[in-house]
Amino acid sequence: MFQILKKKELAENVDEFVVRAPLIAKKAKPGQFVIVRVTAKGERIPLTIADKDPEDGTITLMVQRVGKSTFHMSCFDEGNSLRDVVGPLGRPTEIKKWGHVVAVGGGLGLAPIHHIALGVKEAGNRLTTIMGFRRKDLIFWEDKMSVVSDRVIVTTNDGSYGMKGLVTDALLNLIEKEEKIDRVICAGPVPMMKAVAELTKDYGIPTIASLNPIMVDGTGMCGACRVTVGGEVKFACVDGPEFDAHQIDFDELMNRLRMFKDKEELAMREFQR
Ligand code: FES
Repeated sequence: MFQILKKKELAENVDEFVVRAPLIAKKAKPGQFVIVRVTAKGERIPLTIADKDPEDGTITLMVQRVGKSTFHMSCFDEGNSLRDVVGPLGRPTEIKKWGHVVAVGGGLGLAPIHHIALGVKEAGNRLTTIMGFRRKDLIFWEDKMSVVSDRVIVTTNDGSYGMKGLVTDALLNLIEKEEKIDRVICAGPVPMMKAVAELTKDYGIPTIASLNPIMVDGTGMCGACRVTVGGEVKFACVDGPEFDAHQIDFDELMNRLRMFKDKEELAMREFQR
């Protein structure tokens, strides 16, 4: 059992959990994730390790209430325990001293971006973080990202905070100011990652996307998380979750994420009853 030591609502429908998991905290590297089962009969939920504290033996997970299982997890409070937390899973982020790295996170994409940013800075890079939200009241972790980044740019769709527009507007601004960008790393909604990839492809900037496909076993056996990258089938749980964003078939990924929408809605209705 994995005890929840802290729980905090970060924004509407987004919770942060600090969970006691000493072995995972010791081994986890940026880019990796865990699979959580809230109860013994629960669905498996893949969640990125957003932060870790090996000394305290804790990991930080961020959960967006989007379906039955994530709603169920949000009912758990400090002192409660999660049935299983398996990990760390997936390949760690490739981290080198590239120079100037721009990390782009939209909404819950800040979970992988935060852990990756820690590694990128530790390797001696200059880091600009672009955080995108729909509006001011949905913003979270600006403080945490400011600690690890040399510069943080926040965008909101409606202009209620920071720069009005999308993360791609902020990224284009940097490119047009002729700032040298050696690498872009993005995570967030699939349309956002697709737009980032299209933009950076035009300018020849190497770009990595951290994907969030449907997962079941997390060990490369079930095929649920398959994505097409450069015309080849890859399993995000063992080959990823990060891939060359210029090679990812984002349209296929979007379709696959919608595949079980009816069943998810039905499960949610039954859970709420
Ligand atoms: Fe089953 Fe990746 S989750 S193969």
